[in-house]
Amino acid sequence: MTTLESFPPKSVQRWSADDYATNGRFVTDLAGPILAMLAPAKGERILDLGCGHGVLTAEIAAAGADVLGVDLSEELLAAARARGLTVLRMDGHALPFRGEFDAVFSNAALHWMRRPELVIAGVARALKPGGRFVGEMGGHGNVAAIATAMRAVGALRDGDPVKIAPWFFPSVAEYRRLLEAGGLTVNTIALIPRPTPLATTGIEGWLTTFGRSFFEQFAEPERTEVMGEVVALLRPSLSNADGVWTADHIRLRFAAVLPS
Ligand code: BEZ
Repeated sequence: MTTLESFPPKSVQRWSADDYATNGRFVTDLAGPILAMLAPAKGERILDLGCGHGVLTAEIAAAGADVLGVDLSEELLAAARARGLTVLRMDGHALPFRGEFDAVFSNAALHWMRRPELVIAGVARALKPGGRFVGEMGGHGNVAAIATAMRAVGALRDGDPVKIAPWFFPSVAEYRRLLEAGGLTVNTIALIPRPTPLATTGIEGWLTTFGRSFFEQFAEPERTEVMGEVVALLRPSLSNADGVWTADHIRLRFAAVLPS
């Protein structure tokens, strides 16, 4: 049986709810389009897959939906519970639900789940006939500069390859294929370049929050040196003359349905 402890692609990422709230603010600030695509309705039962600290889960609940959030990070779930939300710790690769949701929603979480065929199979099982799967994740080319800098520095310092850029950023064709193989009908799917200014936190905030497992594999003082090398590699491409950083984000946004 698959368990959180034994599952091969288990998350290598650890989260700090405080870091996420500060450095990952763009994740929820820029979620308007995907929430609009979900269009949660009063009384609908909705699963928020990878709900994190629950900011968007709360918005779905505010629309009158009966929403359940699931995530693998106990620390982020604690922040979601503090908002009064119903959430469960669960691996998105092993969803246990059967035909009970009108919609499954996911924002900025699916790229952490490296066996997408298992995730999509669980989503399809969880949906009622006619139910929809609406999501946004990093798509092909997402954070290409950031990932390349981490790979380059990590390789020179014998870093653990699993911890270096441990993400899944599919193309439109690849994710469409996966959704269709999982029994879903794709209504819309597109890659959307979305350069994201990091005006307040800079690139170090991004790296500290989203590359935490990568940097934590090095002890001090090496960790600080590694951070300095990654930042130096990125400065020419992601920082402007005023020192304002922009993350090279590309979203994959889609809506699919389980046929009735
Ligand atoms: C993203 O939202 O694109 C992202 C977040 C964390 C790690 C990698 C990408």
